Amino acid sequence: MPKLSDPSSGLSRGALEQLELEGDSLGDHRQFWDRAAAVDAIRAIADQEDASSFETSGMVDAAGVATLLPATGRGAALEIGCGIGRVLQHLAPRCHELHGIDISAEMVEQARRRLAHLSNVHVHVGNGYDLGPLDDESFDLVFSQFVFQHMPKTTAYNYFVEARRVLRPDGLLRFQVPNILSDEHFAAFHHFAQPWFVEHPYPMHFYTPAEVASLLVRAGFWVEDIDGVIIAVARKTDQAGIGGALVERVVGLEHPTMAQRLGELERMAEELERMRRRLAVRAANALRRPLRLRRGG
Ligand SMILES: C[S@@+](CC[C@H](N)C(=O)[O-])C[C@H]1O[C@@H](n2cnc3c(N)ncnc32)[C@H](O)[C@@H]1O
Repeated sequence: MPKLSDPSSGLSRGALEQLELEGDSLGDHRQFWDRAAAVDAIRAIADQEDASSFETSGMVDAAGVATLLPATGRGAALEIGCGIGRVLQHLAPRCHELHGIDISAEMVEQARRRLAHLSNVHVHVGNGYDLGPLDDESFDLVFSQFVFQHMPKTTAYNYFVEARRVLRPDGLLRFQVPNILSDEHFAAFHHFAQPWFVEHPYPMHFYTPAEVASLLVRAGFWVEDIDGVIIAVARKTDQAGIGGALVERVVGLEHPTMAQRLGELERMAEELERMRRRLAVRAANALRRPLRLRRGG
């Protein structure tokens, strides 16, 4: 069966595609994900094909997150929108304490069953909007993938604010959202523009890198990294903001043509400066020559 968001293979008319978000309330979102979990959790989560790719992708994604955990192995981490524990399962050996929270009681139920053997993993049903059950300053790392794209941007922003609350000072938030400015993610956006999705709305939101940077700063974070597929890393510090080099990268991602033109102009300016220096040296040599001649003569 083709992936739901694979624009090259069109619609599968599979069971998941029959699901629709009936409204935009938290109850509607909960119902959508409860149904998705009941119909086919493996495909509903990260577009996975089967149990084996589900397993491998979970391992790969956990490795990407694990590098941000304290090296001691005593760290505490939280996944927002943990689904059935695809990533938690592989991250558990790297943490002292690992939590997941999800809007869907059905997803959480399956996660609890699958991860029952991991005593350091705790999974909570959330209200779909905040991190209510979790204490202030209790995590070293909060992470999320394939989740913030499925909720209104106001809800995602509230999760950023909440992530800052539950992070310890210097703790990190890492998440992914699709970049509407990248060709690959725009193809997915285009896919969801098909008439089918007008009749069967699928909760999907796309971002730009500058939008993500701005929301993180507004939520009080120091933004450490944002790349072209929008994997963002932000730190809880006393000062919110973003460094100069990252601003340049984000502008480059946001306006690739302008960034390319600026690069060309910078290279031209450097070349002109080199020419100016060469001319100045030549002029100085030319002035010195008759003087030497006169002295020598
Ligand atoms: C595509 S799945 C990804 C699950 C998991 N992050 C993974 O990568 O394996 C999206 C998950 O986000 C959850 N979710 C959707 N909206 C949410 C919200 N507002 N708050 C919390 N969880 C939400 C869904 O229930 C679902 O489990």
